Amino acid sequence: MSLSNEQIKLIQASFSQVAPIADQAANIFYNKLFEYDPELRRLFKTNLNEQGKKLMQTLGVAVGALRDLNALVPVLEKLAIKHLDYGVKVDDYTPVGNALIYTLKQGLGSAFTPELKQAWTSLLKVVFDVMRSAAYPNFNPNTYKNHKSYNH
Ligand code: HEM
Repeated sequence: MSLSNEQIKLIQASFSQVAPIADQAANIFYNKLFEYDPELRRLFKTNLNEQGKKLMQTLGVAVGALRDLNALVPVLEKLAIKHLDYGVKVDDYTPVGNALIYTLKQGLGSAFTPELKQAWTSLLKVVFDVMRSAAYPNFNPNTYKNHKSYNH
């Protein structure tokens, strides 16, 4: 797994801007996620505030560890397997990724430059490829086609 040093710096700086408004960011994220894909709402059983905190914490750990992405692989693999029990399907990563990008755009405003968007999109592709590969035996990152798409 690899991202350029420049991309890593951009992602880390942008996340530190969103971290102080993590509660709001989580709120924006879930509203957008359920707008994109109302079906996903029924997968979430716990309090969304709690869930949002966990999501932001985990993202924070991942963002902090970007310089050693390989060390993250087993963590992400485990997390992906756990997500099978939550009922998460291979296509569900797409709305989650899109809602995250939307949240960053809302949270960062004009600081969300095209380069930053590209850096986050690259990171999400790496993370989702690892998670999907671990959890869905038929998943092949080279041939996988998204079955869900969104405009934002
Ligand atoms: C970047 C990728 C993701 C990260 C970092 C992440 C993180 C987390 C974390 C930390 C938890 C808490 C429990 C645990 O440790 O297993 C969790 C639970 C959960 N996640 Fe994710 N997740 C990701 C992707 C997804 C996707 C694509 C979906 C699809 C809708 C999803 C849906 C859920 C659900 C339904 C739960 C359980 C909530 C509940 O029990 O109410 N996650 N996730």
